Amino acid sequence: MNKVIIAPSLLAADFRNLEREFEKINSSEAEWIHFDVMDGLNVPNISFGFPLLEATRKLTDKYIDVHLMIENPSKYFEEFKKYGADSLTIHYENQTNIKEQLQAIKALGMKAGLVINPNTDVSVLEPYLSELDLILIMSVFPGFGGQKFIDATYDRVKQSRRLIEDSGRYIILQVDGGVSLDNSQELIGAGADALVCGSALFKENDFKGYVVKLLGK
Ligand code: DX5
Ligand code: ZN
Repeated sequence: MNKVIIAPSLLAADFRNLEREFEKINSSEAEWIHFDVMDGLNVPNISFGFPLLEATRKLTDKYIDVHLMIENPSKYFEEFKKYGADSLTIHYENQTNIKEQLQAIKALGMKAGLVINPNTDVSVLEPYLSELDLILIMSVFPGFGGQKFIDATYDRVKQSRRLIEDSGRYIILQVDGGVSLDNSQELIGAGADALVCGSALFKENDFKGYVVKLLGK
């Protein structure tokens, strides 16, 4: 196991040849697959859902990290579990009963994560630390792959790392959006331990080699 987790974002994969994309992912040192579910209501885009999750589960043994950008996520927790999700991450924004939702995810045997947008204060995470397995810091506004990384993220990662240390709990700190070799090492230095990487990684010919570089090896 590496110190840092790399999570290729499936949103950037070439869907014309999914099997080949999974061969690349499976033979790489990436430990997770990041699976973005968007419903066109929570974010201005629609991505994919259960049929692709089911196929993904059959195409890989890797950990499937599901990022939910949908209305009423709790309505679908059981189905996400059924189709193979290992963790579910819900957005802080526009949600109610966050604690109960995190508990429901864990009761189904999945890891529970909370994600905040670039303009949401890191301190909102505090009341939920006791329930969290994962914190996701968005480094772009969610909805689309291939956006430019927001530099203010470094400080937000440092701040989140301090919150986690103070809590005394083991919580994975993940960053999502515009991650590439231009920022990966600085993010790891700031305290990130899981990096989502979409377009920068899938456009590379040497997928495996790029994962190794993201890991800082
Ligand atoms: C954006 C998604 C990201 C996206 C990352 O809303 O949550 O996971 O796929 O893609 P890149 O790395 O291209 O920014
Ligand atoms: Zn995502």
